[in-house]
Amino acid sequence: MSEFHLNADDPTHTLDQVWPPFGLLIESPRLILRQIRETDFPGYLAAASSGIMRTARNSFASPWDENSPEKMAKNSLTWLWSRRASIGPDSWYLMLAVFTKDEDGGERQLIGMQDVWGQKWRVLRTVNSGSWMRSDHQGRGLGKEMRAAMLMWAFDHFGAEYAESGAYDWNEASLGVSKSLGYFQSGTTRVTDAHGKQPEWEIQLRLPKNDFLRPSWTVQVQGNDLLKDFMLLSDRHLSEANDEENDDDAG
Ligand SMILES: CC(C)(COP(=O)(O)OP(=O)(O)OC[C@H]1O[C@@H](n2cnc3c(N)ncnc32)[C@H](O)[C@@H]1OP(=O)(O)O)[C@@H](O)C(=O)NCCC(=O)NCCS
Repeated sequence: MSEFHLNADDPTHTLDQVWPPFGLLIESPRLILRQIRETDFPGYLAAASSGIMRTARNSFASPWDENSPEKMAKNSLTWLWSRRASIGPDSWYLMLAVFTKDEDGGERQLIGMQDVWGQKWRVLRTVNSGSWMRSDHQGRGLGKEMRAAMLMWAFDHFGAEYAESGAYDWNEASLGVSKSLGYFQSGTTRVTDAHGKQPEWEIQLRLPKNDFLRPSWTVQVQGNDLLKDFMLLSDRHLSEANDEENDDDAG
């Protein structure tokens, strides 16, 4: 078990050591998933502005992907920064950039994002997720592979007990990914479309860990122990604070 510990006045720490979310790496047969960094921003903007929708309607909750690349740079990159501040122990958010691999197993191209987050995590142990991929890579099973890779990390390494997701009732690709991995429909919600103009039905989906229809492969994961300790560090500090409080009471 790695402990999140830093030396005072030590400029030799690596970036992953001081910010463990950057050290998480999840590898599936064709893909690499890892937290997005500033140096990935050009690749992110290229993928996001390349065209994501194959459908006539926009499948997101807001039409951010319809913005010009310039507006996307200002809106989407700042959104990535804003999510980065959510680091647990109860609310956390990881923005995993998804890369195809080259012949040597290195990162070839950023093709999309697999976001995953938890709320009231210590009690609920439930991950929620959202994803997208550039349209020229859709329909080859990569959407399913990136969600399955995230689920294997969440269930087998991070301690999730449930996964949830949602999609408009006409979003066949997203619903197809969920259903092929074992999610069941847990409800529907009346929501507005991406442009806030029309009503839509959103399908809610839930996957208990034991119902996960696992692919034949497994993931390689790096950096999880340190990430877990980093996310729950305030837990440790809280219990230290409680111990001190109890000691005071006893005195
Ligand atoms: C959702 C998304 C990530 C899925 O990735 P993908 O590469 O297109 O999907 P896959 O090729 O992995 O397909 C996964 C499953 O869905 C099924 N599926 C995919 N597209 C489908 C379609 N148009 N109609 C019916 N089934 C479909 C596949 O057959 C497969 O099921 P199977 O394993 O049982 O054969 C991708 O389509 C996307 O980025 N869409 C736009 C953004 C979006 O809608 N994001 C989700 C918002 S809720």
